[in-house]
Order: sequence, then C-alpha cells, then structure tokens
Amino acid sequence: MECRRFVCGPLSNNCYVIWNRVTSQSVIVDAPLGSLAAYEAFLEETSASAVALLLTHGHWDHMADASIFQEKYSVPVHVHGDDLSIMRDPPSAMNYSVQGVEIPGCEPDVIIGDGDKLQLLGTEWIIRSVAGHTPGGVVYYVPEWKFLFSGDVLFRGKIGRSGMKSRDGTLLIEQLRLKVLTLPEDVEVLPGHGAATTVGEEARTNPSLRCSFGDAAADFSCPVAANLPENMHNGL
Ligand SMILES: [Fe+2]
Repeated sequence: MECRRFVCGPLSNNCYVIWNRVTSQSVIVDAPLGSLAAYEAFLEETSASAVALLLTHGHWDHMADASIFQEKYSVPVHVHGDDLSIMRDPPSAMNYSVQGVEIPGCEPDVIIGDGDKLQLLGTEWIIRSVAGHTPGGVVYYVPEWKFLFSGDVLFRGKIGRSGMKSRDGTLLIEQLRLKVLTLPEDVEVLPGHGAATTVGEEARTNPSLRCSFGDAAADFSCPVAANLPENMHNGL
C-alpha cells in the first residue's frame, strides 16, 4: 500500500490517493478542484483503477471534482447523508465565489453513517461521524495501516471551523474527544489541509482539545486560513 498526497485548488486542499500496487486498485479521499488532473497524472504512472471516492464532508473545496470523477471513471462517491444538501447545491455553503469557477453539484452513490465499515483495498475502513464542522462530517479510520483521514475536523495543532453557532464548536470538540482521541496514539492523522500529525500529538498539544470547551469553541481554522481574506474562511 502507498499513500500519496496531492495539494489542489485555491484553498490548498489535500487529496489522498491510496494505492495497492499488487491489485492496481486505488481509493481517493476528497476531490478538490484540480484533483482529477492530479489523479490522471498518477494514472499515467500506475494505471491503477479507482474503486471508491470517499468524501470527508460536503464542503465545495473537498467535492469540487467529485461529479467528474463519477462521470469519467464511474467511481462511486461516498458521503454522509447529513451533507447531502450542500453536495447537491455547493454554493449554498459558500458566502463568496471563486472567480471563473463554477462548482457542480454531485449526487452521491453511497450514503455512509457512523459505525459503517467498508472493505477497500483488502482492508477495513471504519467510518466515524464527527459533526460540528458540517452536520455530515466523518473521519475514515483504517486500523491496519493506522491512518485517520480527518477532513476539516482536525488539523495539526488546530480543529475545524465550527460555523456560526457556538454550540457546534462544543459539539465538534465533544465528538473529537469521543471519536478520535480514543484511537491509538500512534495513528497518523491525515487532514484535509496542511501537514499530517498523530492522535497522540494532538491529544498532548492541540490547544483546542486541551482547554475548556468554552474557550476551545472560539479557536478554529485550518493552517491555510491565516492567509485568506476573511470572507473566504467559510469553506474551511
Ligand atoms: Fe470544510
């Protein structure tokens, strides 16, 4: 198994391609703008077919290329049902436009939920819902490889933006403590933006997960957010 990270789109999203060299099958985690082109360059090298596109949540910057993955490669798109509305209508979750870019909606092929298990690339992928950034946010945990794809709910040293409602921030922290910090500390966390970390590192050092709920709810954003205009933070 190999895992490659492609950084794509105006918000520097991570797209991960996990590839089994023996079976020539791959799984894609998140489909930001430009990820199809990155994947096609990868295909020239490997000829690996894609068996699933797993979305961590429905925000436009993570699903912008999902519909063209479906159309061109018939890759089944997986997403939590609580993010269906923003998948179908991406601009509904944006308070700005990206010049010259239209994000097409996507009708998922597979609706996933908390506790679901997928067999992909010869191993088990466990889905844990972590609401609070979006209602349908999930993390994908692969016990055999000790990987956790965390989307926008957990970054290195940060947690995800919790939206406009403070209770969502509290919910996000509760969910992270329950669904993520209970995993083995050497599990590698592969976020939707920025560099990888581990469960143990975040449990020890992430200020949002160490401080009180009330304080932590105000501490959000991903590593690239500091470089963005204020009105572009909404998708993160
Ligand atoms: Fe997001």
